[in-house]
Amino acid sequence: MRIVFLGPPGAGKGTQAQRLMAEHGMVQVSTGDLLRDAVKRGTPAGLRAKEKMDAGALVSDDIVLEMIRDRLAAPDTRRGFILDGFPRNVPQAEALDPELAAIGQQLDAVILLEVDLDILMKRITGRRTCSLTGKLLNIHFSPRAELEACTGAGGTLVQRADDNEATIGKRLAVYREQTEQLVPFYEQRGLLRRVSGEGSMDEVYARLLRELGLAR
Ligand code: AP5
Repeated sequence: MRIVFLGPPGAGKGTQAQRLMAEHGMVQVSTGDLLRDAVKRGTPAGLRAKEKMDAGALVSDDIVLEMIRDRLAAPDTRRGFILDGFPRNVPQAEALDPELAAIGQQLDAVILLEVDLDILMKRITGRRTCSLTGKLLNIHFSPRAELEACTGAGGTLVQRADDNEATIGKRLAVYREQTEQLVPFYEQRGLLRRVSGEGSMDEVYARLLRELGLAR
């Protein structure tokens, strides 16, 4: 399947994409992860992206599109993929069409994960990533055993640079102003499916599987 995950920061896009990848073989293509990797490696694109990311603004479309084009060209995406955090505005969505046509693919569904604002704030401020495994965790919501499995093995729980209150407000505003325009965009194409992102990670995952026709 070829899916887009749409939803505000903290909705659970990355969490659910990681699990779908592990259990159903689809490849997670996260522009946020690709950009953070470019920043870490100090590539020219990463250097240009860093300032925007630190401010909670969108990185320019040309940088993101080049990353998506390269990533979709890799053979592993032939078994299906989840676009996590892309597209983020209407120009990116329009640019995606010819990229998919070039590799002979088309989207099966666009999943909108819906979560109340208060819950989003708690999820984002509590988010940590295990330095050893890259697994997404949360100091408020993850089982203690999962947090201790990381630290007990010598890992650290790393907080993202843009998960601070000032930047979170900006990221949410950008979502409302630019990314939400993709809801009517994909609704008109008959691709949009709304899924509640509230409740436990397992509950959200079960809803997703049902919506995607993957439930056993
Ligand atoms: P990006 O990395 O895409 O961040 P985001 O969209 O702000 O989304 P998040 O990663 O914050 O949220 P998520 O929905 O993945 O939630 P998660 O699963 O982690 O983008 C970062 C920046 O990069 C942007 O600001 C921009 O500058 C740039 N960028 C990226 N893509 C771009 C593009 N296409 N164009 C231009 N610029 C771009 O979950 C959050 C936390 O909640 C975790 O701790 C998790 O454990 C927890 N959690 C998840 N689900 C549940 C649950 N059901 N119950 C309890 N806790 C839960």
